[in-house]
Amino acid sequence: MIESWFSSPIYVEDNVDKENIKTYKKHIKKYALQTNFLSNSIQNREGIHTSHELMDLVEDPIFTPLKTHILKHNKIFLSALGYDEKTIAGMKISNMWFNVSHTNTSLLKHLHPGSITSGVYYVKSQPNSGKLVCNDPRPGIQTNMPTRVKGQPPKHLWREIHLDPKEGRILMFPSWLWHCVEPNESNDIRISVSFNFIQNGFQ
Ligand SMILES: [Fe+2]
Repeated sequence: MIESWFSSPIYVEDNVDKENIKTYKKHIKKYALQTNFLSNSIQNREGIHTSHELMDLVEDPIFTPLKTHILKHNKIFLSALGYDEKTIAGMKISNMWFNVSHTNTSLLKHLHPGSITSGVYYVKSQPNSGKLVCNDPRPGIQTNMPTRVKGQPPKHLWREIHLDPKEGRILMFPSWLWHCVEPNESNDIRISVSFNFIQNGFQ
């Protein structure tokens, strides 16, 4: 008998907070202009513009409804992962920032140290404006690259997963999960809001 253990959970929910998405789009465009599209040069390739170190959206009242949705979905996610109620109640969004990705920009592989869960909410996107790619986090797994039988392997054998950037979609994952963003191959910008959760008292 073979059983698979230690899975990597990824939370996906569509059509989140669609009624406010136009407002978020408008304000992020305004903020992006105000911050002069400064970017974090460590992670970004060819210039994704992010407010990560410049403007925290957590206390911005414009984004209060989105924050409420994110809290709700994080609660569902952590409940499914076996966290108890008291621990979940002690979770808070530590930071929340916007990303504006122009044509041909991508984001290098990274993780979110110091957080419990992380995620992204798509405000403006096209099917080809850059999928989120999550990688098998097991150390050393890539040292073994067997030639496999043809066809689609079952999910537990995948080593990376590509998730579509759909407007109104929220994606969440444990902050230790390696991920990157494919190049934006559309001729329009992609706008997203990213966030991290921490446990109260563990800052
Ligand atoms: Fe990330």
